[in-house]
Amino acid sequence: MLSLKNVVTCYGSIKALKGVSMDIAQGEIVALIGANGAGKTTTLKTISGLLTPSEGEIIFDGVDITRSNPEDIVKMGLSHVPEGRRVFSRMTVMENLELGAYSRSGTGSGRKQAQDDLDQVFSLFPQLKGREKQLAGTLSGGEQQMLAIGRALMSRPKMLLLDEPSMGLAPMIVKDVFRIIQEINRAGTTVLLVEQNAHLALNTASRAYVLETGKIVLHGESADLLSNDQVRKAYLGE
Ligand SMILES: Nc1ncnc2c1ncn2[C@@H]1O[C@H](COP(=O)(O)OP(=O)(O)OP(=O)(O)O)[C@@H](O)[C@H]1O
Ligand SMILES: [Mg+2]
Repeated sequence: MLSLKNVVTCYGSIKALKGVSMDIAQGEIVALIGANGAGKTTTLKTISGLLTPSEGEIIFDGVDITRSNPEDIVKMGLSHVPEGRRVFSRMTVMENLELGAYSRSGTGSGRKQAQDDLDQVFSLFPQLKGREKQLAGTLSGGEQQMLAIGRALMSRPKMLLLDEPSMGLAPMIVKDVFRIIQEINRAGTTVLLVEQNAHLALNTASRAYVLETGKIVLHGESADLLSNDQVRKAYLGE
């Protein structure tokens, strides 16, 4: 479903990605783990078109999106939930969700479809129900993360890119969010999950890639990585 081939992305003269290659099949949850500054966010931003690589190519669902703009990429069915759960805090819950529906992929829009999508979001996130008119900025951190994911789902993505969905959340809430991520995946959405919490990532994803200073240094089945000495020392604190 998504393939990166030798992707190089720079900030000015700084090479943040030094030839990243990854392959993700339809229906998978794949994790991308790595330390602070490894290039995880840069990888997601490059996939979703917020950054343009200087080398390499990115193929999504059979289409070369290496130089496509972010709007077109969302319309093709690839949706990005950014780091730091960026919801529009001065807009209501409903307005945030409606913004997500704006770039719906596929054919047909109409009220019926939008209502179906809203129903789906509220059934995944019952915490948001009844709070449609509340300003997003007044939600708790966990609720804002749920709203950010809900907003991304409104575009009916085939694939979801999640940037550190656990960040800043209490352990109980993290559990909830990850249970819902698995539910979204079971309903058919492919997921690329960026996480600094390697334990959580490897227990959620079937496969993972390990990024170090802009390079993939390891990849494999999560179970194998969980028992890999290098991973245990560097990422699992063992
Ligand atoms: N806008 C920018 N301008 C210049 N350098 C940047 C910019 N954004 C990121 N970088 C640099 O690129 C590298 C990769 O950063 P990136 O944010 O992708 O890392 P990350 O793995 O997401 O880290 P974190 O776990 O802290 O979120 C870092 O060295 C960072 O300092
Ligand atoms: Mg990051």
